[in-house]
Amino acid sequence: MINIQKITCIGAGYVGGPTMSVIAQKNPNVEVTVVDLNQQRIAAWNDENLENLPVYEPGLDAVVGEARGRNLFFSTDVDKAIDEADMIFISVNTPTKTYGKGKGQAADLKYIELCARQIATVAKSDKIVVEKSTLPVRTAEALKSILDHTGNGVNFHILSNPEFLAEGTAVTDLHNPDRVLIGGEDAEAIEALVQVYEAWVPRERILTTNLWSSELSKLVANAFLAQRVSSINAISELCEVTGANVDEVAHAIGKDSRIGSKFLKASVGFGGSCFQKDILNLVYIARSYHLNEVADYWEQVILLNDHQKTRFAERIIKNMYNTVNGKQIAFLGWAFKKDTNDTRESAAIYVADHLLDEEANIIVYDPKVSAEQIYRDLDYLGTRSPEENRRLVTVVSTADQAVNGSHAVAILTEWDEFKHYDWAKIKENMKRPAFLFDGRKLLHGVELQKIGFSYYAIGE
Ligand code: NAD
Ligand code: UDX
Repeated sequence: MINIQKITCIGAGYVGGPTMSVIAQKNPNVEVTVVDLNQQRIAAWNDENLENLPVYEPGLDAVVGEARGRNLFFSTDVDKAIDEADMIFISVNTPTKTYGKGKGQAADLKYIELCARQIATVAKSDKIVVEKSTLPVRTAEALKSILDHTGNGVNFHILSNPEFLAEGTAVTDLHNPDRVLIGGEDAEAIEALVQVYEAWVPRERILTTNLWSSELSKLVANAFLAQRVSSINAISELCEVTGANVDEVAHAIGKDSRIGSKFLKASVGFGGSCFQKDILNLVYIARSYHLNEVADYWEQVILLNDHQKTRFAERIIKNMYNTVNGKQIAFLGWAFKKDTNDTRESAAIYVADHLLDEEANIIVYDPKVSAEQIYRDLDYLGTRSPEENRRLVTVVSTADQAVNGSHAVAILTEWDEFKHYDWAKIKENMKRPAFLFDGRKLLHGVELQKIGFSYYAIGE
């Protein structure tokens, strides 16, 4: 039996950080070291003030506070951590390729390969290498080949252990997962990882499969979830022209136990670092096996999501008399969902870009996202110069500063605090007619109309 005493995780991001913190919290006898090349990120994980952790997740400060310094460590010394570990998780980013073959679709595996090569170079004792990153099916084959051909004659076992946490609920998802999935070929290695999770997850929720099923299941889970959002968003457009209400439709269909009620909230479009990237990857894999109908089917989920973001921006322009030039539009929310400071692929970025093309002035307030991040997101698009982005977009630290004097308010993220604002007072301080565009169906339309807002919500 393999007894794991030291775990290393390469990658201290949104997955590596929280996941390893919980593993360390629940396994006080296992030493867990999380390493990253990014010194700033590691410094933030080590910050004495737990409010400065690089990832904002409800409850994460308490978990880190309990385990850090006891059996949880954050470091930039990757070689040392690899050398000492019995088990190494790879939790680095696997973004969509931006160059060469598969550009815009395939997953870029350069960071994964670098990790494998570094492990192969450094390791002097047997290791279990765990894929925590989301990877194309059959990546384990390439990993094994790199490890076996450039290694020091040590034995490597590869496991696939994809992560299903959602941002904003990472800690509760990790504490109480629907399932943990472990794919592998070696029974002993699988059992070693099962034991780590068994410290808090009931055995019947730990599923074991072959490597390829585990790798593929992660892409498929995200594709199914995103497909539900695109499905309800497609219906939201139909509701708007027929007089049906998309929340009522979602409630009615969700009562069917075969459909289920979760993940049926119409929105301005899904964002986040996973859904789009993983579906594009699935589409690419299907096409590479010449399964064109399969690829087209899943690609439609992305196309509909792009349409939903564009449709929301165009609705703002249309309702505001077909011009937003020089008008002040307050954005409430920039994160891709509530309770996270993550903005990757957030719908807000694309809606803003569309309105900026029309020379709108945008004032953004988000409770957790910094001004630097917002400008970085816009600059990254390359649509206009950084100076132009700063001329047209202002970032403020209170909602009042954003809404006062604005022509319109647009809700882009479903932060709870927006529900509790004094909307009558907000309206008083806005230009008339006061427009309110609810991209999250967060507020009560009838009440806002009574207050005097010109109110539009997705799917009503
Ligand atoms: P992230 O970008 O937040 O973190 C990745 C980290 O890896 C970065 O800090 C980067 O500096 C570091 N890194 C890259 N190469 C390195 C190297 N060679 N050595 C040391 N450090 C290195 O990414 P993330 O959101 O944590 O996602 C990681 C993986 O998990 C991805 O494959 C993603 O698809 C998957 N995933 C993400 C989520 C999520 O909610 N974010 C959920 C499930 C799965
Ligand atoms: C997702 C998966 O849920 C998670 O299992 C996986 O590990 C990583 O990808 P995440 O992207 O963090 O998690 O958040 P999620 O809650 O899935 O939301 C993704 C996007 O869909 C957000 O922009 C959210 O606002 C949107 N969404 C979600 C909707 O618009 N409507 C819904 O009903 C649900």
